[in-house]
Amino acid sequence: MPRPDLLERLAVQAAERTHAQLQRRLRSIDAWQGAYVESGGRRLLAFCTNDYLGLAQDPRLVAALKHAADEGGVGSGSAHLICGHRREHAALEEALTAWTGRDRALLFSTGYMANLGAIQALLQRGDLCVQDKLNHACLLDGAQLAGAVLKRYPHADATAAARQLGGEDHTGALLATDGVFSMDGDIAPLRELAVLCSEQGASLMVDDAHGLGVLGEQGAGCVSEAGLGQHDVPVLMATLGKALGCSGAFVAGSAALIDGLTQFARTYIYTTAMPPALAAAAHAAVTLARQEHWRREKLQALIQRFRQGAAQLGLPLMPSRTAIQPLLLGDAQQALAASRALEDLGLLVVAIRPPTVPQGQARLRITLSAAHAEADVDRLLDGLQSLRLASAPV
Ligand SMILES: Cc1ncc(COP(=O)(O)O)c(C=O)c1O
Repeated sequence: MPRPDLLERLAVQAAERTHAQLQRRLRSIDAWQGAYVESGGRRLLAFCTNDYLGLAQDPRLVAALKHAADEGGVGSGSAHLICGHRREHAALEEALTAWTGRDRALLFSTGYMANLGAIQALLQRGDLCVQDKLNHACLLDGAQLAGAVLKRYPHADATAAARQLGGEDHTGALLATDGVFSMDGDIAPLRELAVLCSEQGASLMVDDAHGLGVLGEQGAGCVSEAGLGQHDVPVLMATLGKALGCSGAFVAGSAALIDGLTQFARTYIYTTAMPPALAAAAHAAVTLARQEHWRREKLQALIQRFRQGAAQLGLPLMPSRTAIQPLLLGDAQQALAASRALEDLGLLVVAIRPPTVPQGQARLRITLSAAHAEADVDRLLDGLQSLRLASAPV
């Protein structure tokens, strides 16, 4: 048998996806201001960024970034463990440690890398990794990279998670879950999972990419909101590219965890440290996210307004109290058509289709931000009303 031509095989797969009308398309954004973006010569009111607190364009973040770049240049110059770890990184790690109430925190260049690195460092081949079926792709990939036995329980089902954890008590076990689910907006049953892990001698890892800044006292995230400490959730990961309006991520936990990741997390060791100016901007964002409660209050008011309006219109809302407010349409073509019709009205709302979400669960992933005004939410509701959307069959 001749070897398959890899590029040809990839092209066939891409053609199949196009044929199924599920191909992904890249959109170029020419400008972004407040809640609006400019794309293809049009100004669109966007409901698809993860900039939940409206910090990405805050002048104080921009000033921190410029100042640090003026002082120390753009790139970090090397990996953290060579000579790339600057005082801006150290200061950001300290701020994140204090915010999350952990012993220490360790920066990674992206959330994807943080999850890959942490799971790969913690788990050995043959260990057990139990995960929610709707976890983000990078948590699943982390388990695969570690060579762990991956078991996935039905969404948010702690009883099923308990069954999957039971039995093989001689292997190491990690239960990993999104805190706020990225495509659904609901929150994992964290307290039940923490009890379960403690009973079963497993470690609990929570990815709070979409909860940090938004939920909990001073925005410390869903784990803090659930009243869980470092003992209950020994591995806490969150990103800097969503509510904090920057880019990058961190893992927080005990000194032993951070020391271990520093030694063994390959995505920490073998990569260039994030630009120090970005760390300075993220540090400014942490300060603002903690202090400016009005951002969370405004976001919550907008969420309530949207949910009330959507319920009155009979729209297929999913149960969520976070900034992620998806409308479940079911059919991928219907979701795409709805997204295009909204764009014709000047509204940017993306359709999320399989394989990002399960078959038959295509949706409009609407995200709200403190950068929106009440009138923006009303405009979105008017647009949605004009589409006469039908719910997905249950
Ligand atoms: C739950 C979750 N974890 C991790 C990531 C990855 O983070 P990053 O974009 O920083 O790589 C994302 C989204 O991008 C996410 O939604």
